[in-house]
Amino acid sequence: MTPGAATTATTHAYGEASYWDQRYSNDQGAFDWYQKYQSLSPLFDLYLRRHHRLLLVGCGNSALGENMVDDGYQDIVNIDISSVVIEAMQKKYSDKPGLKYVKMDVRDMRSFESRSFDAVIDKGTLDSLMCGQNATENATMMLQEIGRVLKDKGVYILITYGDPSYRLYLLKDVELWTVKIHVIERVEKSPGQKTWEVTSPLPLNEDGNPVSGTLGANPEVHYIYVCTKDDSQRPSQRMHTDEARNEQ
Ligand SMILES: C[S@@+](CC[C@H](N)C(=O)[O-])C[C@H]1O[C@@H](n2cnc3c(N)ncnc32)[C@H](O)[C@@H]1O
Repeated sequence: MTPGAATTATTHAYGEASYWDQRYSNDQGAFDWYQKYQSLSPLFDLYLRRHHRLLLVGCGNSALGENMVDDGYQDIVNIDISSVVIEAMQKKYSDKPGLKYVKMDVRDMRSFESRSFDAVIDKGTLDSLMCGQNATENATMMLQEIGRVLKDKGVYILITYGDPSYRLYLLKDVELWTVKIHVIERVEKSPGQKTWEVTSPLPLNEDGNPVSGTLGANPEVHYIYVCTKDDSQRPSQRMHTDEARNEQ
């Protein structure tokens, strides 16, 4: 992860609530990891509708929710494991009815009903868990919970520094969705440069990986995985569908 990354000690700490509580106590200004709403909005326009019920996981003190509500989104629930940041955000946005802030661990969202969100947006939160201890186990719990709270055909939009060799296997393990991959320039690495069109997904092989050579070596990009939940892919669902077909 870029801002403040590097040593093993800090890397492990990204997975801990205490690290984030301390960080948010010391640093109260708004901060957006990786990308801001302005650069993401064309992609959101492709997959989201203004009336959708949205869940922002690991919202931190990002301005993303505020910017989205200002741009017409009507119903955004934000969660974070840090009580410090959630209390601050509840105070800051008490006048914005479209924005709710709830302290919650993304690995255990039992107070949300299954199939209750049209989309889940994650900017940097799976990355945090992947930097902590028991990374794969925690990431799997998180992805299963996200899959559970999404409606059928709902989308999980994951904005990450993790390239497909580090993220696709995790996403595929959950087997709930079809995955498209978009890329966007890292603002800090290539200011003003535009090689990639965020609204055009990368061409993928049959195995779901980007066609080789598309990205080149060490591309200065963030990856955006758009995972569309597809209940018809579930084995039990497929069995019902096959049975129904056989009965016809
Ligand atoms: C890298 S920051 C990203 C913040 C924000 N999404 C952004 O884009 O600026 C990761 C956030 O995930 C939160 N987080 C870490 N583990 C979490 C968990 N298990 N459940 C919910 N939030 C978590 C942290 O408190 C932190 O706010």
